[in-house]
Amino acid sequence: METPAGDPQASACRLVGWKADDGGRVQLELSDDAGSGARAEVSIANDGTVRLRAGRSLPLPFETHLGREPWKTTPAVARARDGSGIELAWEGPLGCATVEIEAAPFAVRILDRGGREQASLTGLRCTPDGGARLAWAARPGERLFGFGERNGGLDKRGEKLLFRNRDVHLRVGGSRYLSIPFVLGVVPGDAAGAARGLLLDALGPVEIDAAATRPDTILLETRSDGIDVAFFPGPTPADVARRFTARVGRTPLPPLWALGHHQSRWSYGTASQVRKIAGELRRRRIPTDAIHLDIDYMDGFRVFTWNEKRFPDPKGLLAELEAQGLRTVTIIDPGVKRDESFPVYREGHQRGFFCQKDDGEEFALRVWPGDAALPDFNREDVRTWWGELHRPLIEAGVAGVWNDMNEPAGWRNDLRVGKLPLILRGQDTGELVQSDPREPDRDVPHETVRNVYGLQECRATREFLESARPGVRPFVLTRSGAPGIQRHAAVWTGDNASRWSHLRESIPMLLNLSVSGVPFCGADIGGFSGSCTPELYARWIQLGALYPFSRTHSMVTSRRQEPWSFGPRVEAIARRALELRMRLMPYLYGLFREAEDTGAPVWRPLYWEFPDAPDCAGVEDQLMLGPSLLVAPVVHRGARQREVVLPPGRWLAWDDDAEYVGPRKLRVDAPLERLPLFLRAGALVPSRSPVLHAGEQPAEPCILEVAPGADGAADWIDGDGETTAYREGALARAPLRLRHRAGGRLRLELARREGDLALPRRPMRVVVRGCEAPDAVFLDGRNLAKGGRSPGFTFDQGRVHVIFEDTGQGHVLELEPAP
Ligand code: GLC
Repeated sequence: METPAGDPQASACRLVGWKADDGGRVQLELSDDAGSGARAEVSIANDGTVRLRAGRSLPLPFETHLGREPWKTTPAVARARDGSGIELAWEGPLGCATVEIEAAPFAVRILDRGGREQASLTGLRCTPDGGARLAWAARPGERLFGFGERNGGLDKRGEKLLFRNRDVHLRVGGSRYLSIPFVLGVVPGDAAGAARGLLLDALGPVEIDAAATRPDTILLETRSDGIDVAFFPGPTPADVARRFTARVGRTPLPPLWALGHHQSRWSYGTASQVRKIAGELRRRRIPTDAIHLDIDYMDGFRVFTWNEKRFPDPKGLLAELEAQGLRTVTIIDPGVKRDESFPVYREGHQRGFFCQKDDGEEFALRVWPGDAALPDFNREDVRTWWGELHRPLIEAGVAGVWNDMNEPAGWRNDLRVGKLPLILRGQDTGELVQSDPREPDRDVPHETVRNVYGLQECRATREFLESARPGVRPFVLTRSGAPGIQRHAAVWTGDNASRWSHLRESIPMLLNLSVSGVPFCGADIGGFSGSCTPELYARWIQLGALYPFSRTHSMVTSRRQEPWSFGPRVEAIARRALELRMRLMPYLYGLFREAEDTGAPVWRPLYWEFPDAPDCAGVEDQLMLGPSLLVAPVVHRGARQREVVLPPGRWLAWDDDAEYVGPRKLRVDAPLERLPLFLRAGALVPSRSPVLHAGEQPAEPCILEVAPGADGAADWIDGDGETTAYREGALARAPLRLRHRAGGRLRLELARREGDLALPRRPMRVVVRGCEAPDAVFLDGRNLAKGGRSPGFTFDQGRVHVIFEDTGQGHVLELEPAP
């Protein structure tokens, strides 16, 4: 990024006039050194989020044209400050902010309730090409997280980052498939006001200099359309997430099957291969819920077709798979083969639905089917048409859609070496024009709206799936995206390789994506290209089984990557890893529900749960799965031990209940069979006995794992797993509460279930870990008998198992003495 001349914080603009409109917006008239005018607008939302838009002319808002909620301002009243400048303030139950606008030089300062500065935005400059720059002061000791999907480490402070969606081969650095210019700033150890967030919202590419050029300044820069930033106050990362996702959207609860394991390869290219994979998955009892069909199911890579030779009866095949508990997900790329005899192309062409070049000719992108035309997803009529094209797929029984190559990606030339396309990257989209989503009749250079191409495609796909199968939760997976992509699709991180470094890197990458609003994310387990080794696959599936989106995928030329491809030992490891996912499904389901409710991610960096522990802030080879489970995977070849940074508090090892007290560093044994996993004291983890797929009834549907040692609270969420009825209240929620009194009793309350979902009485097993044999166990005040009969309890290897029938009416369980 080019550095602005002189002090980046020094504004070239000053305020020359202002007025407040009725809607709580302050409109500002600015002038720069050269006498050129600029316009800006400041407003506050009812949760204390502050938005600043500025440019030579005021940029038009675009959020509603991407399907997001409109920006709702509060009726905050602006007043002139003594001397010069303006003040705008809001305080309400959801948040507050005071904004001080300084006149010369122009600056915007955001203060909290106590008058402490939360953010300082200075140095506004409007560039002749329509872009703008703004400086945001970095705090001393502040770590900068988020930034969507990026390579490298967790903390991006000191890096210059370009956000431009592009196809990146084998994970080279720089901008990637998906751009979320969102910054989560955290000052570790500073509990008061530790976290804050900022979104540089744009349709096209932007750059962020994360205090690289000047250690005290984060530089925000756009190339067109002025600048549009939103500031989200903390003080905790969860507060920032709630505000940020209220603005860009949250992930609706996925169908339960989509939370299972997905098995994919480029490609399971014939019906008989697909049958064989499904048969093996079931014969070998590998928990899996979905099979993905990559590009070879199509006829000559023509989207929305089937190769009739290789897939003579898709409907029959998919029904067979479904009967085995396997859903089918098919890939759809945006490129439509330019072939006059192909009805999809003919229709799109005749109706003028494809993007053009600036000379008015249809643009051709070279991609799998050869020359392809690109639908202009910024137009509603195009999105509706595109969605409708999926109808035959869903009629054939396709359960989910995988949107790939939607940056959009193509190449300059493709020489084929046997089956493998040798791709010369760097396709030129320079002459491409597209509709402006705000004004669909107006063509603008594609570059200025490039980053929302994939998002708009996913939106079209999801909206169609919702309308075609009313009440059924859709599943869409995408490679490309922009802020808010999580409303429409799950995200996988594209083409990685079977390398240890890529296994390692998947952790900071998915954590940063998670805190950027995208909870449903994953990397290709085993690596996409290259040949995975048995050991690498074993370690990858152990971690990947706990990715929020868990899919094994591999490239056409790579070694096969089914769980059984690496011999019986690794197959057993994979089965066990996936069984753990299946055990934890009720916990995961609750976390996804929480993500929809509050924007909190499923995968959380350690600093999220332990903001006061400075040692946790930089940890990037461990993660929290929700609030209760610490995952410390083995990510180095040959390692059979690893060091674990244990955050403050008491912890129990998942496998053997060994007890540790943090903060401390710990060396743990991790033979190939073992994933180091720890339960936090106070944890209440809803689980069940493992099943092979979402549709199977578990032998034990309700097992509550309890880690004593601290108070705890959680919700047990139950729903039908498939439909959207939960939005109308058809979801059972049982609040759980644990009270731990050393020397006294351990008390577990399962409150009466809330919600309209009627659930039968069901057997419940509560497992209290890390205990001595109790003197007595009480259920609803009744002294329980020891023994395997319900209601009753057993004690075995430091665990108390209490079994009883959960009526849903509320129960209280007590252990004496508390462990
Ligand atoms: C892209 C995708 C990859 C897919 C391949 C063929 O490289 O990232 O997942 O297998 O295209 O469709």
